[in-house]
Parts: sequence; structure tokens; C-alpha cells
Amino acid sequence: MSLTYSCEDLNDTEKLAEKFATVVKDEGSFVCLFGDVGAGKTAFTKLVCKYLNVREKVTSPSFVILNEYKTGTIPIYHFDLYRLENEGINTIINELEEYSEGKILTFVEWAEFSQNAIPFDRIDVKINYIDENKREFIFDYTGNKSEEILKRLNNEITGI
Ligand SMILES: Nc1ncnc2c1ncn2[C@@H]1O[C@H](COP(=O)(O)OP(=O)(O)OP(=O)(O)O)[C@@H](O)[C@H]1O
Ligand SMILES: [Mg+2]
Repeated sequence: MSLTYSCEDLNDTEKLAEKFATVVKDEGSFVCLFGDVGAGKTAFTKLVCKYLNVREKVTSPSFVILNEYKTGTIPIYHFDLYRLENEGINTIINELEEYSEGKILTFVEWAEFSQNAIPFDRIDVKINYIDENKREFIFDYTGNKSEEILKRLNNEITGI
């Protein structure tokens, strides 16, 4: 099952992020974000953090690789692997797996640099840039936990 959601503008992305926050807030999730520069990976993460009541200012981890937020409903870890590229990723791949365990929420931007070395239970979010305001979000999963989360997200979206 993959889930496609069309966002006409940032407001729609906010509604989607609110629903996503609802379905990950109890158990947490490991989320890989794919999409070009400016697609909205950081924007989506910021909005999910907002609905998980994060009080710190949420910023892009492009330069620091990892930001941590501890004030929200669950601990949130936000990675950006862009600066590590393929070589650097090997040094943190085991560490990344630890961030997929337990009741925490982990976002990973530029997970493509892991060259599919992220085999564990996870949600993949592909964001396609359509125009200045419009985006297409495609959710996919690996593993049982993420499958359950996406089923709940589908129910939230369709209002069942
Ligand atoms: N519907 C939308 N959904 C998400 N972002 C949108 C939307 N419409 C406009 N935007 C804007 O697009 C920009 C997305 O930038 P963002 O930093 O989130 O991209 P990114 O995918 O994280 O890029 P990078 O690879 O550089 O980290 C933001 O300025 C955001 O306000
Ligand atoms: Mg970003």
C-alpha cells in the first residue's frame, strides 16, 4: 500500500502534518524524507513538530546533521544527511538504526545517501514539487509497525 496526498498549498501540508502527528504520537516512527531541495522536507517536519507541541524553535539540520527536540509529546530527532553524502553515511548507519527503536520520532532528510542501507521498519515520504505552492506527498513503508501507522493515516485522511 502506498498513500498519495495532494497539497494545494502550505495550509494543506499543515493539515496533513497534523494528521501524521496524530498517528505517530504514541508509538513513534522512523521517517525518511525524499525530495529535491525546496520540496518541503523541513517544512513538513516543522509542522509535525508543531502538532506534537515542540516548544523549541525547529530549524533545518543541514549544517549540524542532527537536531533534537525534547519538549514535545515524544522525543524527536531530525537528521539531514546531505553533508555526509555516501561515504560519511557508513559511519553513522548503526547509530541511525538505534534511532529507529523505542517510542521516539525520527526524521531523516536526504536518506538516499544511505544507498538503501536502511533496511529496518520505516516510513518513506516522497515529496514532489508541482509548483510554488503545490506538492504531492507519497507515503510508503517497510515493516509491520509502519504499515499500521499508514493504515491509521489513511483512515485519518479519508475521515473513517
Ligand atoms: N504545499 C507546501 N508544502 C510544503 N512546503 C511548501 C508548500 N508550499 C510552499 N512551500 C515552501 O517550500 C519551501 C520548502 O523548503 P524546505 O526547507 O522545507 O525544503 P527541503 O525539502 O527541506 O529542502 P533541503 O533539501 O534544502 O533541505 C518552504 O519555504 C515552504 O514554505
Ligand atoms: Mg531541509
